[in-house]
Amino acid sequence: LKIAESDITFKRKPVIIIVVGMAGSGKTTFLHRLVCHTLSSNIRGYVLNLDPAVTTLPFGANIDIRDTVRYKEVMKEYNLGPNGGILTSLNLFATKFDEVISVIERRADQLDYVLVDTPGQIEIFTWSASGAIITEAFASTFPTVIAYVVDTPRSANPVTFMSNMLYACSILYKTRLPLVLVFNKVDVAKHEFALEWMEDFEAFQAAIETDSSYTSTLTRSLSLVLDEFYKNLKSVGVSAVSGTGMEAFFSAIEASAEEYMENY
Ligand code: GTP
Repeated sequence: LKIAESDITFKRKPVIIIVVGMAGSGKTTFLHRLVCHTLSSNIRGYVLNLDPAVTTLPFGANIDIRDTVRYKEVMKEYNLGPNGGILTSLNLFATKFDEVISVIERRADQLDYVLVDTPGQIEIFTWSASGAIITEAFASTFPTVIAYVVDTPRSANPVTFMSNMLYACSILYKTRLPLVLVFNKVDVAKHEFALEWMEDFEAFQAAIETDSSYTSTLTRSLSLVLDEFYKNLKSVGVSAVSGTGMEAFFSAIEASAEEYMENY
């Protein structure tokens, strides 16, 4: 993403944190934890909910897609199923996204972070035109970072880990934004195994080769791709439930925002 010199109304703050992750990885619980952390640490946060289908949010959103688009009515009007309804609601909201940017710009001096919750089904945001429009609208105005939430206990299986990392990798290349891997649920399973696999190619090979159903040439090639990917990101272990890792998370976000300011 290149920004022309003439467009430099670019501000250092707030930093936009777009939270994505597989269904059930703990995005909403993590966002709730982030909101609690900002409130108790005098960090000035602003919350944007982009999930039109969520029934109850455990935190208050400053801007909520549900105030503008009625997901159930969109489903009825366009005769759509649940995913089509969410996608169309997001498309409708994206057409007004310049207004959201203006609201945040007006408050920019009073904000440190904008926390963005995305729909439960990850691909509705990451593979849709409206997701791309929203991401680009943010990234051309403010430093923007992707927080990719990983269900750590579910990723202890090396094949699941690899497919999750390949998905994160595709998001990095699609958005070209700094990405922080957020290993969530470390109260259930520590994320050290993941750090080891990310740092030591041979250790990951050894783990994945215990699964005889995978051809070693394919997994070897894929893990080489991932080895390159790991060099481009930061990772932290957190527990959205216990609150572990919040400082480390915000440090990683700050470092990513610096990287953004230097490179984009
Ligand atoms: P969808 O948006 O519905 O796809 O889910 P999500 O990614 O927002 O996940 P959600 O926050 O609903 O959490 C999914 C489940 O994981 C819930 O049962 C949470 O209580 C649980 N969970 C989330 N974070 C943690 C954590 O840090 N530790 C533990 N033990 N459980 C967690």
